[in-house]
Amino acid sequence: MSQTANGSTSALLEVQNLRKAYADRVVLHDISLSVAPHDVICLIGASGSGKSTLLRCLNLLEEIQDGVIAFDGTEISDPRVDPRTVRREIGMVFQAYNLFPHLTVLDNCTLAQSLVHNVSKREARSRALELLERFGLGDKAAAYPDALSGGQQQRVALVRALCTRPRLLLLDEITAALDPELVGEVLEIVRAEAAAGMTMILATHEMAFAREVATSVCFLDKGRILEQGPPEQLFGDPREERTREFLARVL
Ligand SMILES: Nc1ncnc2c1ncn2[C@@H]1O[C@H](COP(=O)(O)OP(=O)(O)OP(=O)(O)O)[C@@H](O)[C@H]1O
Ligand SMILES: [Mg+2]
Repeated sequence: MSQTANGSTSALLEVQNLRKAYADRVVLHDISLSVAPHDVICLIGASGSGKSTLLRCLNLLEEIQDGVIAFDGTEISDPRVDPRTVRREIGMVFQAYNLFPHLTVLDNCTLAQSLVHNVSKREARSRALELLERFGLGDKAAAYPDALSGGQQQRVALVRALCTRPRLLLLDEITAALDPELVGEVLEIVRAEAAAGMTMILATHEMAFAREVATSVCFLDKGRILEQGPPEQLFGDPREERTREFLARVL
């Protein structure tokens, strides 16, 4: 097993030589990535470089054409594995919050827990309320999503994912749809979860945030991880010319 970003050899997630194609168009080439418990891996790269597709593959929302994805030692890319079992442990939050509009904030947060995780209604409710409270949304429990700001809705989406106690959290551009003044309140939750030791892989255009929170940054270029390293190195002294060009454009 290869070394993980923080030097440990026991990976929570191990991706080897993953290839993903749509018809004959390959969008992820030979992706290998090792994620140890408590790692925060930031995926950066131009639009279309494959960040979302990679996250979707990890959560078994996409079929892969080659390679292996192992989660906690189990080969989850094996077609015989039930994706629902995997998604109990790997949570995902998207750019569009995807809250159920006809359910209150509290019901949004309890639904998955009761359905997928087999916890009692009471337990699900108490867990949801505790998290909503912790992230400043305690007074929104009875509200419907459309009565919330974008930042608040995205915080609820994060709480909903956290309610199921995932062991790995995949976050795809969770601030991309937000007005700049709302970005901070969402990143605050990610920051808190990172500090609490949550293992995360996040695709982000927020370079300053990636630099602050990441244990390791992957630069994706045309479906390949062109370069991976600690944030100080990748942002401060990138090895690859294309990484330099990308950073010069976005910073
Ligand atoms: N369902 C699909 N069918 C065909 N091609 C797809 C599909 N989904 C994504 N692609 C292609 O895969 C490539 C990678 O897309 P992806 O959405 O992963 O990029 P990204 O890095 O997340 O970009 P962005 O920063 O804009 O979110 C793109 O060329 C895209 O057009
Ligand atoms: Mg994307």
